[in-house]
Amino acid sequence: MKQDVIISQNLTEDLRQAIERCPHDQLFVLTDTTTLQFCWPVIRDYPYLQEAKMITIGATDENKTLQTLSSVWEALQQGGATRHSLLICLGGGMVTDLGGFAASTFKRGIQYINIPTTLLSMVDASVGGKTGINFGGLKNEIGVFNCASTVILCADFLRTLDSYNIRSGYAEMLKHGIISNTENWAELITFDLDNIDYTHLQQMVAKSVAIKERIVEEDPTEKGIRKALNLGHTAGHALESLALEENRTVLHGYAVAWGLVCELYLSAKRLGFPHDKLNQTLQFIKENYGVFTFNCKQYDKLYQFMTHDKKNQSGIINFTLMADIGDIRINQSADREEILEMLDFYRESMGC
Ligand code: GLY
Repeated sequence: MKQDVIISQNLTEDLRQAIERCPHDQLFVLTDTTTLQFCWPVIRDYPYLQEAKMITIGATDENKTLQTLSSVWEALQQGGATRHSLLICLGGGMVTDLGGFAASTFKRGIQYINIPTTLLSMVDASVGGKTGINFGGLKNEIGVFNCASTVILCADFLRTLDSYNIRSGYAEMLKHGIISNTENWAELITFDLDNIDYTHLQQMVAKSVAIKERIVEEDPTEKGIRKALNLGHTAGHALESLALEENRTVLHGYAVAWGLVCELYLSAKRLGFPHDKLNQTLQFIKENYGVFTFNCKQYDKLYQFMTHDKKNQSGIINFTLMADIGDIRINQSADREEILEMLDFYRESMGC
């Protein structure tokens, strides 16, 4: 499962080396319609990509389907791919997840390289080998753990992102800060997302990815400590599902940020997570992510979404909570009353 993660200052050279490390007969590049237009032009003139065969899929999460996966398998087959072919996935989390799954299953597995183009995929999706598709109305329901041979993080792509996509990815960085140490957390909650210093952001991305890599290396298949990466996600996924049902557009990282508010409250209540750190994190989230509104009539629905989370076991809602910054407690649960209290806290403190 070991993968190379490269913080690239020289994409041409780093990609050339990554490709050389994977001897192959044929090279394929997977993009979605957006990255074909905006990111492929950055690399398409590289001499070693001239023979590459292109595969393009629809952009956005609605296309993360069995049908799209099948179209990628078909394109590989029709393009004459063998078990010794190599796939480069150029895109956000949808492309790297679906492309990684296509590569992991085609002829029982071919090698693949990820070049994430969004902040969210740089700091989370492209690293750590979770691949898959949505199925039966559930996100990432079908998939395998299988790492890309190399992940190349190129800061140039960061400058192309709008502030929503920066903030979405940044929420996962904030999560990495909370599970690591006070220094990283403090650096993250004092960073100015309205006037981005890209050099500083790139340094923080490198730290963030290193935190994730360390955890994934220790527990690649999420039997234990990798569950730390689920902080904010139990409540976050429930908010995301509610938004989806109500046709409200919510980027994943925004839901994670609001989920962090909920779960840090639960952490304070159950494990004594310090109130000042809860409040500072909450203020940062409120200022940068605004608020997702819901009322108490929707509590039951949110609770139901949490009970259906795939991280649960035997119907018990599984949370990762924090006793302090860096002090992780996995496999925590909360009863219905505490969860409703958590939702009350969110609404009161966020002002909705
Ligand atoms: N996105 C959480 C993980 O990779 O485990």
